[in-house]
Amino acid sequence: MSKIVTVVIGTRPGIVKMAPVFKAVNDHPELMARLVYTGQHYSACLKDEIWSAFGLPEPDELIEGIDKANTHATQIAKMMIGCEKAFSELNTDVVLVCGDANTNLAAGIAARKLNLQLGHVESGLRSYDWSMPEEHNRVMLDHISDYLFAPTSESAAILARENVKGEVFTTGNTVVDALNFAVESKRLIKPQYDLTEQEFVLFTTHRQENVDDESKLANLLSIVEMVSQDLTVFFPVHPRTKKMIAHFGMRDRLGNLSNVITCDPLNYLETLWSIKNARLVLTDSGGLQEESCVLGTPCVTLRENTERPESIKVGANVVAGTDPKLVLSAVMNQLKVKRSSWANPFGDGLASRRISDAISC
Ligand code: UD1
Repeated sequence: MSKIVTVVIGTRPGIVKMAPVFKAVNDHPELMARLVYTGQHYSACLKDEIWSAFGLPEPDELIEGIDKANTHATQIAKMMIGCEKAFSELNTDVVLVCGDANTNLAAGIAARKLNLQLGHVESGLRSYDWSMPEEHNRVMLDHISDYLFAPTSESAAILARENVKGEVFTTGNTVVDALNFAVESKRLIKPQYDLTEQEFVLFTTHRQENVDDESKLANLLSIVEMVSQDLTVFFPVHPRTKKMIAHFGMRDRLGNLSNVITCDPLNYLETLWSIKNARLVLTDSGGLQEESCVLGTPCVTLRENTERPESIKVGANVVAGTDPKLVLSAVMNQLKVKRSSWANPFGDGLASRRISDAISC
């Protein structure tokens, strides 16, 4: 009898990385795919266009009311209750979650407590920064999952060292599967702004530890200002960042800069165009560190650490923190790095098939 596999998605990066997994499960002769959306990302700019770019169907279950949750605990609790109900109604055998957002922890705990099988896609990543909500989620999920899908041999080795209970499979990162799908079947889309290939820097920030901290956010805006003296800075603004810029009264700091283009979050194909055609990516996003590495654009990471050391090792990325002087020095160095002068460490684009094959056995 076919196993019923419920794929759980709730955030923008989750859509990107789980769309290929959903398709692989759906196409597998021994599996039946179901889809739950937790509603963690509820704004259209973070969900709708990316959802349709991958041709995902309407979810079987949609959890509502998460937009009203304004603490980690209330958000996780509401999603956990919604997932528990959804998994039971869908007669789920296996639950699949991906990454480190609260969505995944909520779904993971609900699955564990129902004694369902749990698979963690993008398992074994560690920043070793215990102040990050994402690091709590990764560690907890890896220790309650039955299937641990490590994207690289480095992440598989971390899981082995931590002596996890479940079985570890090294699969590649599904971000490469998603990129291949987009690049092969669709055309990347240039956003409707005055951008010249190789003459702009793509800048993004949304991490809680950066944008909820007034002095770090001020530093990040100083970095935008300084970099824009030499290159156009293209800055799609995440809703959390927009909210915190307003909260700290910093709106004027961006409004007065002539060489800075700000906009709402881009759709997936626009994001990929912007990463591919930027001279440099400056970001605190984990997904952008991977995507820039795969697409051949040098990156500077605006954090003190990264759970993606593979991109550093190959020379595509450096960790620079948020001190403007240190970031500027990293920018100068990364501008000298030749595009695509490294091998992609994140896999061959077949991760989703390996994941569906593993759970079908
Ligand atoms: C979450 C993930 C983060 C991931 C990011 C991708 C956690 C702990 N963090 O961060 O790992 O990199 O998603 O974007 O799960 N908001 C909206 N519309 C939305 C969603 C959020 O306006 O659709 C605003 C709200 O003000 C909300 C804030 O952003 O309070 C934070 O949203 P939340 O989902 O808690 O975390 P992210 O910062 O998006």
